[in-house]
Amino acid sequence: MARVLVTRRLPEGGLEPLVEGGHDVVQRAADTPYTHEELVDLAGTVDAIVCLLTDRVDEFVLRAGATGGLRVVANVAVGYDNIDVGAARQLGVAVCNTPGVLDETTADVAFLLVLGASRLASEAERDLRAGTWSGWGITQYLGHDVHGATLGLVGYGRIGQAVARRAAGFGMQVRHHTRHPTGMPGYVAELDELLTHSDIVSIHVPLSDSTRHLIGARELALLRPHAVVVNTARGPVVDEEALADALHAGTVFAAGLDVYEREPAVHPRLLSAPRTMLLPHIASASRATRTQMARVACDDVCAVLAGLRPANLVTA
Ligand code: GLV
Repeated sequence: MARVLVTRRLPEGGLEPLVEGGHDVVQRAADTPYTHEELVDLAGTVDAIVCLLTDRVDEFVLRAGATGGLRVVANVAVGYDNIDVGAARQLGVAVCNTPGVLDETTADVAFLLVLGASRLASEAERDLRAGTWSGWGITQYLGHDVHGATLGLVGYGRIGQAVARRAAGFGMQVRHHTRHPTGMPGYVAELDELLTHSDIVSIHVPLSDSTRHLIGARELALLRPHAVVVNTARGPVVDEEALADALHAGTVFAAGLDVYEREPAVHPRLLSAPRTMLLPHIASASRATRTQMARVACDDVCAVLAGLRPANLVTA
């Protein structure tokens, strides 16, 4: 029987694979993350860790773990920028993630932000709730149409493609940019070209050294003043300060964000920026999807502990 650390309460049913596998589960009862110190201490006492994107699984955690016999870290997320994959590889600790099961749910929220930001839904709702809506007005809350607009997707993996499918139903022209040609219709080789000619830009790349601040002041300056920026990927892909500047200056029309550079902190100038729809990192937060994500991570832990190749190994 292996000992598995689960760093947070998971959606109901998420733990089943571990329970059915007869593993000894050490689970945090609280709905807050362990401190880094606690995580380092615990890592040395378990064979596997099921963690969340808010857990920083760095070299210290992995070293302590490997010394004590840690074999696998499974992140209940598709993104794994919170884990030092290089160190894990060196230490022989497998790292797994949960791709595939959250694509459609995340694309739903990306589209919610495309619609909400373009049509100024948050701003209008805020006024209504504050009691400052003066009644229907022909020049009030004038957003930009989503139907027929050109959508530029930065990144075209499973989630980007799920967004593209939704966009087709809205009669949008969809183009995409990735570092390597996709061979698919709508491919644009240059990011600058995509930004220059899109009405709405939606970001779907993982966070890595090459995508950190991929959208900075220079890139934002390429957008047309009616452009809308949507980010459901990772906060640091966008330079928040530069985006806040662009929104305040009106050089970018609107933004819809689900992710931030320093979560849970949100840049104060983004909070005060006009025409922004801000969500607290909920893109994959449907009951079914979050449960499935937890199950996929636990299934992979069971596989590694049984000496099998897990379905979603990122340290291959
Ligand atoms: C969520 O942000 C994820 O990476 O799954």
